[in-house]
Amino acid sequence: MAPVTTAADTMTRREWATEVRRLAEERDAVILAHNYQRPEIQDVAHHTGDSLALSRLAATVDASTIVFCGVHFMAETAKILAPEKTILLPDPDAGCSLADTITAEQVREWKAEHPGAVVVAYVNTTAAVKAETDICCTSSNAADVIRSIPEDREILFLPDQFLGAHVKRVTGRENIHIWMGECHVHAGIDGHTLRRRVESEPDAEVYVHPECGCATSALYLVGSGAVPQERVKVLSTGGMLTAAEKTTAKKVLIATETGMLHQLRNANPNTEFEAVNSRAECHYMKMINADKLLNSLRYGTTEITVDAETSALARRSVERMISIGSPSRGGE
Ligand code: 13P
Ligand code: SF4
Repeated sequence: MAPVTTAADTMTRREWATEVRRLAEERDAVILAHNYQRPEIQDVAHHTGDSLALSRLAATVDASTIVFCGVHFMAETAKILAPEKTILLPDPDAGCSLADTITAEQVREWKAEHPGAVVVAYVNTTAAVKAETDICCTSSNAADVIRSIPEDREILFLPDQFLGAHVKRVTGRENIHIWMGECHVHAGIDGHTLRRRVESEPDAEVYVHPECGCATSALYLVGSGAVPQERVKVLSTGGMLTAAEKTTAKKVLIATETGMLHQLRNANPNTEFEAVNSRAECHYMKMINADKLLNSLRYGTTEITVDAETSALARRSVERMISIGSPSRGGE
């Protein structure tokens, strides 16, 4: 088994995993990992899942500490939902280019231009931005969140333009204004790349995350008859996992961050899962590694806090989010 090199020592993967679980027990900690984490982190975590599932878990798990193997906004969301718990992020610099596309000040200015509008924020936002919003959503419940808002109310959707365009399309709602932010990883999975891959794999199914630059092109390919409708699905990472378990396709092309492939391959060894763009890697997600997780459990680093006022304002919005939509995926 490949050794895992840590600052303190060198151990096998199995020894490392045993030590991680031992330290977690000692600290009364539960380890949550997002589907984009490194394979060894996903495997050692108590639960691996999509943003919505992990938020729901953060709100309900019994442990007094949560070690969040994900990015900063996810750890902040966990703190907002579980203020009494200690939330650790193994690398506090694990950020998100999408969350960085809008500040609280910009939300205030946007709201001033649209008085009375309902502000819907994708969970990939800072706590300060969430505090300025009415309701949060993730990719797995975004359409349900939009449908929960009375038809006649104007909506400001932020910060992801591609997810915004997707929910506008699936809900048929016209009165949505969309912030033009994007995630650099998903924006890089563009329509041109998708078309090329689909043309070279005409029998493959295609799962597309709605944050992708190619989400519109995927549906255009369906509309133009280039790919049959039943073979293209726009899904959150948790939705991809559920679809992967059921599919009988020989090959599925995956348009999202490449960390997702690990879960999909484990879920269904009879199907080949391939990235649409194999360079679509989120370096923020990959900042959490074996060494940092071990140190986080050993030394209690790095604790994430959210000030009480911001937290109270953001909590209303985040709690609305976790109460909407069907259960999403976060398993042992
Ligand atoms: P989901 O897990 O909600 O699909 O989110 C994807 C993502 O980009 C998280 O950063
Ligand atoms: Fe943010 Fe994109 Fe990385 Fe997700 S994949 S954490 S949206 S930068």
